[in-house]
Amino acid sequence: MRSFITPVGEEYPFGGPGKFILGTVQAMAEQLRQEYANTVDLIYIDPPFGTGDGFSVKLPGVREKVKIPAYSDSMDTASYLEMMCGVLTLCHDLLKDTGSVYVHIDYRMCARIRLMLDEIFGESCFQNEIIWAYKSGGRSVRHYSRKHDNILFYRKSAKAYFDISAVGVPRGPMKRNNMKRTVDENGKLCFSIRSGGKTYTYYEDTPVYPSDVWADIEHMHQRDPERTGYATQKPEALLRRIISASCPEGGLVADLFGGSGTTAAVAAKLNRRFLTIDASPASLGIVRKRLLSAGCDVSLIKQSSALALSYPALPEGEFDTDFTFSRDAFGAYVQLDSFRSKFGLSFMAFGTVGSDGVFRPAEYTLFPTVGSRLSDSACKADTVQLCDNAGGMRFYRG
Ligand SMILES: C[S@@+](CC[C@H](N)C(=O)[O-])C[C@H]1O[C@@H](n2cnc3c(N)ncnc32)[C@H](O)[C@@H]1O
Repeated sequence: MRSFITPVGEEYPFGGPGKFILGTVQAMAEQLRQEYANTVDLIYIDPPFGTGDGFSVKLPGVREKVKIPAYSDSMDTASYLEMMCGVLTLCHDLLKDTGSVYVHIDYRMCARIRLMLDEIFGESCFQNEIIWAYKSGGRSVRHYSRKHDNILFYRKSAKAYFDISAVGVPRGPMKRNNMKRTVDENGKLCFSIRSGGKTYTYYEDTPVYPSDVWADIEHMHQRDPERTGYATQKPEALLRRIISASCPEGGLVADLFGGSGTTAAVAAKLNRRFLTIDASPASLGIVRKRLLSAGCDVSLIKQSSALALSYPALPEGEFDTDFTFSRDAFGAYVQLDSFRSKFGLSFMAFGTVGSDGVFRPAEYTLFPTVGSRLSDSACKADTVQLCDNAGGMRFYRG
């Protein structure tokens, strides 16, 4: 059966609130300026680091030998810096006066990107170079092991929103520095220290605010339930801290190199809106799966959490499939009869394409297999969507 229609996007009543757009930042820049200039509260970007490597998706159940391509990080330095200059200028244009940007980078490009940010945002808008220190990965004997990433934090203006109280962690029962561990007049454990003739007292639950060295957040381990299989995925805890401190509730968080959708997933959980861009079809597939799985949990308590996925060009997958469409007084149905797919199937939906070219599923399943059957009790659905693990997709009308 051949691909029949080419929708421009998908819409779900939950999984958001937010939008994912498939495309390069460069290609999207002017459209983003028109739609979002001066409206974004926080931008987090985790662009390629200039490693020269290719990255893939590793999914349980998909044969090891089958490499699912995610993206390649192989630009020469001059092209990379030219791209980043455009991206950082775009970030400046999209942010509100109260907004901030966090640029996640490592030792390779950090110095050059910092100078670029100084130029674009102004040196006075530099806030922090956050050192995210971790223990994972191998150890070098040729030099000291490189065990941190750099996150450059700039504000757009002196009016920037920043709430350190949102990211405090309880001090805990451990004695720190040379503080005295004692008990107050109510029998409550506390720590005190004298300085400049004054006594300072802290309790176990007194919050401690993070410094610019973040060593309390580890990379995800191999079996971490957060893992989506997308290479270079960052832990949610990292984004939780950034979003909680630098975006007010209900605000808009943008990620222009969205990857597995960590920023979007955390923004939704923290009651912020999101805008995610990524050039990789594999990212689109993983983000869809991740947000819909999360959205299913919260859909009963959250009313307005629509998710929109938009793809100016349809990434066609490499697979052959066959379906049976049927209809009776109780609904419209589709059944997957067979498929041959290089990367394995990840998603199947049954719905309608509106006059705006957007596909709206009545029902979907995240793990279709032969025999999977979807229905629409409103009898309207006539289009089935099938996606593979590399993000390729096709739409068929019955
Ligand atoms: C380091 S990964 C981001 C990982 C993400 N923070 C996460 O937690 O999953 C970088 C992403 O940038 C995307 N990318 C690379 N060049 C791009 C471009 N020019 N425009 C948009 N996305 C791009 C890649 O497809 C990849 O998903």
